[in-house]
Amino acid sequence: MIRTEKLTKYFGSTQALKGVSFEIQKGEIVGFLGRNGAGKTTLMRVLTSYLPASSGHVIIDGKDVLKHSLAIRQKIGYLPETPPLYSNMTVREYVRFAAQLKDVPAKKISAQVEKVLDQCYLRNVAHRTISILSKGYQQRVGIAQAIVNDPEILILDEPTNGLDPVQIQRVRELIRNLEEERTVIISTHILSEIEQIAERVLIIKDGMIVADDTLSNLLCDEQGWQQSLEDVFLRLNQ
Ligand SMILES: Nc1ncnc2c1ncn2[C@@H]1O[C@H](COP(=O)(O)OP(=O)(O)O)[C@@H](O)[C@H]1O
Ligand SMILES: [Mg+2]
Repeated sequence: MIRTEKLTKYFGSTQALKGVSFEIQKGEIVGFLGRNGAGKTTLMRVLTSYLPASSGHVIIDGKDVLKHSLAIRQKIGYLPETPPLYSNMTVREYVRFAAQLKDVPAKKISAQVEKVLDQCYLRNVAHRTISILSKGYQQRVGIAQAIVNDPEILILDEPTNGLDPVQIQRVRELIRNLEEERTVIISTHILSEIEQIAERVLIIKDGMIVADDTLSNLLCDEQGWQQSLEDVFLRLNQ
């Protein structure tokens, strides 16, 4: 469903992506794991066509994302690293606005908005102005805008970054509930997050994929012994 071919991305002389190739099948839950600066955000921005690659291709459902960026964006729900929340709107206004931007049919907008407000546990703050909400609620608003058009693919860039432990648990729970029938890609630098959410892990280091396997395979060394994700990660990042 998603295929990348030798993606590279340069920012001036910095090479943020160095030939990234992988394939993700429909329904997979994939974690991008990497240290800060590894290239996760850049990769997600290229996947969603918000940023053009310097070379290489992203093919989604057989289509090159750059040539079909509008159609592709309809298929993808994207939570950027810093969601562009219009903080003077109320939660409901903003989610409605996102639905309009994403061309949800006018007749379906109200029902769809109410559905995602429930899914993201936002009903009790729907009438509040976004700017006065806690960061945990704001992150759920970001997720609500990402899923309001019921996208087949969900791409979440460090969705729990900056949240307190209780908020983190709530957001993870929400993500687990969204996983049904969807392809989900989530980036994080938090190892336990991967273990709680993802089935497959791509470890990214300096713009390259240094591991691509199921979580259970990664946690098993050559002799068949269990190892911790922390050990695997630290070894690959030496
Ligand atoms: N807009 C940009 N301009 C210049 N350099 C950038 C830009 N975005 C990212 N980079 C650089 O690309 C590398 C990868 O960054 P990023 O994709 O944000 O990593 P991550 O999300 O894994 O922390 C870093 O060296 C970062 O400084
Ligand atoms: Mg990032």
